[in-house]
Amino acid sequence: MPRLNENYLNLKESYLFSEIAHRTSAYIEKNPQKGRQIIRLGIGDVTRPLGRTVLDALHEGVDAMSSADTFKGYGPEQGYEATRNAIAAYYKRNGIHVEPDDIFISDGAKSDTGNITELFGPGNTILIPDPVYPVYVDTNIMCGNKITYLSGNAENNFLPMPDHNRHADIIYLCSPNNPTGACYSREQLQEWVDYALANQAVILFDSAYEAFISDPELPRSIFAIKGARKCAVEFCSLSKTAGFTGTRFGYTVVPKELTFPSSAGVAMSLNAMWNRRQCTKFNGTSYIVQKGAEVVFSEDGIRECQQNIQYYKTNAKVIADTLTELGIRFFGGVNSPYIWFECPNGMDSWTCFDYLLEQIQVVGTPGAGFGENGKNFFRLTAFGTYENTVTAMERFKHLFT
Ligand code: MLT
Repeated sequence: MPRLNENYLNLKESYLFSEIAHRTSAYIEKNPQKGRQIIRLGIGDVTRPLGRTVLDALHEGVDAMSSADTFKGYGPEQGYEATRNAIAAYYKRNGIHVEPDDIFISDGAKSDTGNITELFGPGNTILIPDPVYPVYVDTNIMCGNKITYLSGNAENNFLPMPDHNRHADIIYLCSPNNPTGACYSREQLQEWVDYALANQAVILFDSAYEAFISDPELPRSIFAIKGARKCAVEFCSLSKTAGFTGTRFGYTVVPKELTFPSSAGVAMSLNAMWNRRQCTKFNGTSYIVQKGAEVVFSEDGIRECQQNIQYYKTNAKVIADTLTELGIRFFGGVNSPYIWFECPNGMDSWTCFDYLLEQIQVVGTPGAGFGENGKNFFRLTAFGTYENTVTAMERFKHLFT
């Protein structure tokens, strides 16, 4: 009989977005008529199609597979050189130095933020903000790690800062933040980097929403911060930048400077460990997808992605303007596709979920799914269509006026 990983007993029964999908389907089954009017602003899944430049490159990738001369079998586990170079050039365009061999291509930031736990041993002090993207919490629970929560709340604008009197080994940060839409300033991230260096800690930085930053003062990468190459790993994804939620492409930057001593005093490199992990457990992202991803970072690709991002940002403004008009307090929605609002009338977030579903057939994400501090907040995404976003907000006005 196998002995099972009993840490799984400590997880919530289902993953947040599976629970939302389940509750929504149950509602539709009971109310087929109203079910047809449902507007989904829950999971952050995109609705705009891929850009022309990406589509052409994907087609080229497919065509290459049709001839023995250009056919590709297994690729490098780390990703093709051309794709890694394109990502390094994209960083450079934003004034940030990243070496191509620090970059590892994957199928998305969700897998990498989860898989990175394998590089760390037991007994670390792990700081995770609350509220937070549930993957960081669940994957640490799966390995039996103890988590120390960093309180994000309305008082600190959902941007928790380090407590210099407390030690940490591993720190998770996400900016622009999922779920709150809050975005750390350069000075705030510098404080986190300085804290990590002083504690010999590592920052696991999720920058999946960097392309939504329009304020040039705000850092789009942890590597825009002095000293970060000695203490940070960055995860990014094309899901939200380029509409790749279904196509799948992510990348993780592990600087070679990131070394920590083993218990016997041997220097261990996180870059070498991640490389070893990927070579053993991953056979690379498909050539076709990497062809499409490579051109996301070209001038045409960036322009096309920005057109879609502007579309979503218009939706975010529609939501933000409605909440302002209704006097509902909210965060985010400016340098982010997420709007995080305080549940009206003192509702808790799951009550608010049921209320919105039953009364106006709008599906969002209850803040409680992101942590204890989210229990009176609710997240809407700007990734729906413009028409649906406008209709959802008309229904909000009707309900809350
Ligand atoms: C979200 O809605 O929080 C995201 O879409 C989930 C994800 O990126 O995995």
